[in-house]
Amino acid sequence: MQELDIVILAAGKGTRMRSQMPKVLHSLAGKPMVQHVLDTAAGLNPTRIHVVIGHGAEQLRASLAESAVSFALQTEQKGTGHAVAQAQPQLGSGKVLVLYGDVPLIRRESLHALLAQVDEQHMGLLTVTLDDPNGYGRIVRNEAGDAVAIVEQKDADPAQLAITECNTGIMAMTSAQLKRWLPQLSAENAQGEYYLTDVIAMAAKEGINVCTAQPASAVEVEGVNNRAQMARLERAYQQQLADQLMQQGVALADPARIDIRGKLTCGHDVFIDVGCVFEGDVTLGEGVQVGPYCVIKNSTIGAESVIESHSVMDSTVAAGLNQIGPYARLRPGTRLAVKAKVGNFVETKNAEVGEGSKINHLSYVGDAHLGRNVNIGAGTITCNYDGANKHRTVIGDDVFIGSNSALVAPVTVGKGATVGAGSTIAKDVSEHALAVTRSRQLEKADWPRPEKKA
Ligand code: UD1
Ligand code: CA
Repeated sequence: MQELDIVILAAGKGTRMRSQMPKVLHSLAGKPMVQHVLDTAAGLNPTRIHVVIGHGAEQLRASLAESAVSFALQTEQKGTGHAVAQAQPQLGSGKVLVLYGDVPLIRRESLHALLAQVDEQHMGLLTVTLDDPNGYGRIVRNEAGDAVAIVEQKDADPAQLAITECNTGIMAMTSAQLKRWLPQLSAENAQGEYYLTDVIAMAAKEGINVCTAQPASAVEVEGVNNRAQMARLERAYQQQLADQLMQQGVALADPARIDIRGKLTCGHDVFIDVGCVFEGDVTLGEGVQVGPYCVIKNSTIGAESVIESHSVMDSTVAAGLNQIGPYARLRPGTRLAVKAKVGNFVETKNAEVGEGSKINHLSYVGDAHLGRNVNIGAGTITCNYDGANKHRTVIGDDVFIGSNSALVAPVTVGKGATVGAGSTIAKDVSEHALAVTRSRQLEKADWPRPEKKA
């Protein structure tokens, strides 16, 4: 296998984002733009990936610390050619592909096609034909139709400005070609920059064929300069993800109103209503129904479960046939066995809920283990925190906890036991016993209510 070096340019300032954060670290679908480019680049199995950094260099280094990339520092932004030159000493002897940290939606297939063309006699250039070519470098072709130069907008004459075939910036060549051409770049142009684009004319002069290819869709090569473009790319990307889901048999109430910030895996006949957000790794089993405005993060929901509107879930595993919400909040460590129910205004955390058990209304269940067929009455609270440490509540099978009870952990309620409504349970309850802690009801017959004084 020939070596492949991928150079990702990310030294620019991104002034128009009006942000303290470097442009390429802004999130698209929950992931920094530059990370999208890195992931796509990694899919090409390169020998090395180089990221050229400048503005916000330290933030970029920190953010990409886990990635297998090497950094090339461009202390002054003197143009795209100058940027690539910073990585030159680290380049191997095979092919080189140039990508951009602010062009996040480029697809691997388009890059494959480009790289396949490259050899000693050929280089690859990705171009795009745009209705409005304003701001882009224009592709100049000779009578034979070969690309022979790129002219930047600011250097173009009126005839060149009329060209609608534009430079995407993405190109591939052999390392030998690049190393020959970079030292020849000059900054004698309208912007006083070292343009990478000038290598096209050098290739043509040497008789090296510039093979052009176009991406399947223009969004692939769209760059982000401001937040409006960022939002547009976000929508375009979400639409792609929604299309994929629908092709896999998922029913979406509105493909324009779903946000996936990670990986969503769905079984057949899943239905997702409007306004839902999925983060991290989420798996929805067959026939799962998700109501409107739910937020689900790093969770697995078993088959035939119904999640009603406005429910929020994080690091939860539901076995299947579960009923959740509306307005349920399932925090990390929640584990629902088959047919368990968690209803409205219920918060759970680090809680195992046994098969068929129900927490239907207005409760907090944290650091708890519930057996099978437990019924937790409305307003039940597990008092798991004593101000310093967390303690567990253990509830056996078939327990009935009356409404408005407080279970002061650590505490165990034995199987089949009943807790009377309004109790504060601070001691263990024996199996099959009734525990009630509320004071006895007093009754005074024919009691005269106090009356207002005249
Ligand atoms: C560049 C191309 C233009 C193309 C357009 C596509 C050149 C000379 N022009 O123009 O033909 O149509 O992209 O969007 O290449 N960068 C650095 N260091 C620098 C300069 C730029 O890292 O010194 C990075 C920027 O962060 C950015 C990218 O290179 O990600 C492109 O730079 P930018 O200044 O936006 O180039 P354009 O003028 O848009
Ligand atoms: Ca640009």
